[in-house]
Amino acid sequence: KTAKIVVDPEFRIGRVDPRLYGSFIEHLGRAVYGGIYEPDHPAADDMGFRRDVLELVRELRVPIVRYPGGNFVSGYNWEDGVGPKEGRPRRLDLAWRTIETNQVGTNEFAEWARRADAEVMMAVNLGTRGIDAARHLVEYCNHPGGTYYSDLRASHGVKRPHAIKTWCLGNEMDGPWQIGHKTAEEYGRLAQETAKAMKWVDPSIELVVCGSSNRGMPTFAAWEETVLEHTYEHVEYISLHTYYGNPDNDLGTYLAKSLDMDAFIESVIATCDHVRAKKRAKKTIDLSFDEWNVWFHSRESDERIEPWSVAPPQLEDVYTFEDALLVGCMLISLLKHADRVKIACLAQLVNVIAPIMTENGGPAWRQTIFYPFLHASSYGRGSALALRIESPRYETKEFGAVPFLEAVATVDEEAERLTVFAVNRDQEEPLLLDGDLRGMEGYEVLEHLVLESDDVKARNTAKHPDAVTPHSRGDAAVRDGRLRAALPRLSWNTIRLG
Ligand code: AHR
Repeated sequence: KTAKIVVDPEFRIGRVDPRLYGSFIEHLGRAVYGGIYEPDHPAADDMGFRRDVLELVRELRVPIVRYPGGNFVSGYNWEDGVGPKEGRPRRLDLAWRTIETNQVGTNEFAEWARRADAEVMMAVNLGTRGIDAARHLVEYCNHPGGTYYSDLRASHGVKRPHAIKTWCLGNEMDGPWQIGHKTAEEYGRLAQETAKAMKWVDPSIELVVCGSSNRGMPTFAAWEETVLEHTYEHVEYISLHTYYGNPDNDLGTYLAKSLDMDAFIESVIATCDHVRAKKRAKKTIDLSFDEWNVWFHSRESDERIEPWSVAPPQLEDVYTFEDALLVGCMLISLLKHADRVKIACLAQLVNVIAPIMTENGGPAWRQTIFYPFLHASSYGRGSALALRIESPRYETKEFGAVPFLEAVATVDEEAERLTVFAVNRDQEEPLLLDGDLRGMEGYEVLEHLVLESDDVKARNTAKHPDAVTPHSRGDAAVRDGRLRAALPRLSWNTIRLG
């Protein structure tokens, strides 16, 4: 089988915002305690952060990390997590039915992010709290000094403001599982007034308003419309969340789920632009896909976890090779919409549905999904290019005829680098890629990275951390101005040219 692509610098989608490679740390399970923070670990630094984890996070080049939730944020009092640690309360976390010790809070996380070379994307609690708590947190984090909350920060040992630029107005407020769940009307009004007050404290911040928790929500699209009717003038982004899984073990359908992500993104863009038309607005609302990943392996075992323990192993999906392929397809979906998706957060980063796993007191390692994210984040910078693709297809129940080839390219013209990201969804055989490199004469293949495995269920574990790792023995080459490569059956490919 052969798939044809045309790579043309004229097919520019838009600049890839570095924040497309964001991630997420929630106070949930062992993400914080035992994940990024473990003061008794041999690799702990002066603040108790695991250096081995920090190294892996830096390797992923994650530019922004959303914090502190997630469902957790909708019951969180940020004041519990600042000031002397010995005075911080232990609280019931109703979202995840655990005990939160508050040993890590705003200042510790901001410092961790600095050490990880990342910015913080801060979420405020619009579940149990509202305008006051949100505006005070902006003042605490961003105001230089001479006021109650900025001086409180200084008294906690943090003289310079954190200067947090990107803020989320709550989390998944359309979901009945959310503490303080609201109707679109209720949330829209609260988000509008909170946004105004937050920006009056610091006009330089950018705001993300909550869209639907997923495309299957009964209120999907109507929710976005109502919420934007209220907040359009006051926010820059609307959020999208999605998680996929393969519970029926139907690989063909599973790998096609990125088509659902494409449709989700396009529906939200249409809704934003519909509200723009109604308001006769000049401003465009962009998208923050601030939770996306595979999540299904741990759902059953999580039901057996005893409530009210500290940092239990919740949502610890152990990812397979096939999950990495879908994550690759989802990254391609984000890049294909880089003109409107400006922020995206792989949810999450450590232990909780994460590319990085740890053992308490033990090692840290890379899950299978680490690799497509690593390649996209390392090489998918510059501008995204749409490819004209002609690919043979296969039939699925849910999505009809699905192309074997999923692909996109990025170009960094200053650095003279072109990267093609491609997934071969074919379960039987390699797919020959035949690329017309028009307008990109002189480019040669520098490297063809491949993630492949004979076992679609292969996983990386503490004992076998390298069961699934990429290699650079792909055969991509440019001959007579055409890019040719054999994409192995079921593979993630990163073809770098320069
Ligand atoms: O990422 C795990 C959870 O998924 C988040 O807390 C919530 O926002 C979503 O439902």
